[in-house]
Amino acid sequence: MEHQIVPSENIKPQKPIIEFRGVSKTYQTGTHALEDVNIKINPGEFVFVVGSSGAGKSTFMKLIMREEKANTGKITVNGFNLTTMKRKHVPLLRRTMGIVFQDFRLIPTMNVFDNVAFAMYVVGASGRDIRREVSKALSKVGLGHKARSMPAQLSGGEQQRVGLARALVNSPDLIIADEPTGNVDPNMSYEIVSMLTEINKLGTTVLMVTHDHNLVRDFNHRVIMLDGGRIVADNAAGGEA
Ligand SMILES: Nc1ncnc2c1ncn2[C@@H]1O[C@H](COP(=O)(O)OP(=O)(O)OP(=O)(O)O)[C@@H](O)[C@H]1O
Ligand SMILES: [Mg+2]
Repeated sequence: MEHQIVPSENIKPQKPIIEFRGVSKTYQTGTHALEDVNIKINPGEFVFVVGSSGAGKSTFMKLIMREEKANTGKITVNGFNLTTMKRKHVPLLRRTMGIVFQDFRLIPTMNVFDNVAFAMYVVGASGRDIRREVSKALSKVGLGHKARSMPAQLSGGEQQRVGLARALVNSPDLIIADEPTGNVDPNMSYEIVSMLTEINKLGTTVLMVTHDHNLVRDFNHRVIMLDGGRIVADNAAGGEA
């Protein structure tokens, strides 16, 4: 894999948007899901997270979203210190990120427009902003014409594009996606990663877990590989992926 040069790296050293220092996570069952993870991700990067089942990929993502807490080490995300952050401040962190789920998680009783609008409604946006931004997000993912459809009337790929629009609509600094293409066909997977790549080009940092080697090969992004809870390869760290 070619070494990817991130444009911002050429200008000056900058504060990472995500930093893990000596992070370990052991679940209550005693499973060591992550061990001594050290990583820096800069604003504007697109990073694939790969590794076999049980390697710790979802745990890594959950720590970033503060869905789980680390046992040791220090995590900062978007300027928030997750180690000392109080539970009541977690919504502030989440507002800076868009999350795309493998199983879409759309609200079945709401149409496409309202599913996306809901993400803005819960953060207190005005009706006018909601109408404008939801329409923009739906056109970005090519679903302007499906605004009035119900989720059950859409294909898997279309449902995931609604999930993507919902993640985008609050203009997050960071998009977190744990196997967003896990439930869609290969062509749609390619399209979803293309869309994420376009969004990334406009400045949003993207972190995406995938099992799909073809995607990793076809898109020239940074690749972090986990194995047994450790980072074993990172093509931006001067090592081989
Ligand atoms: N809530 C939990 N409680 C206990 N153990 C867990 C929990 N979640 C994950 N684990 C364990 O932690 C390890 C890492 O799991 P994780 O879900 O991070 O793997 P993954 O890389 O995402 O795997 P996959 O590719 O199958 O999604 C596994 O051994 C898993 O069984
Ligand atoms: Mg997982």
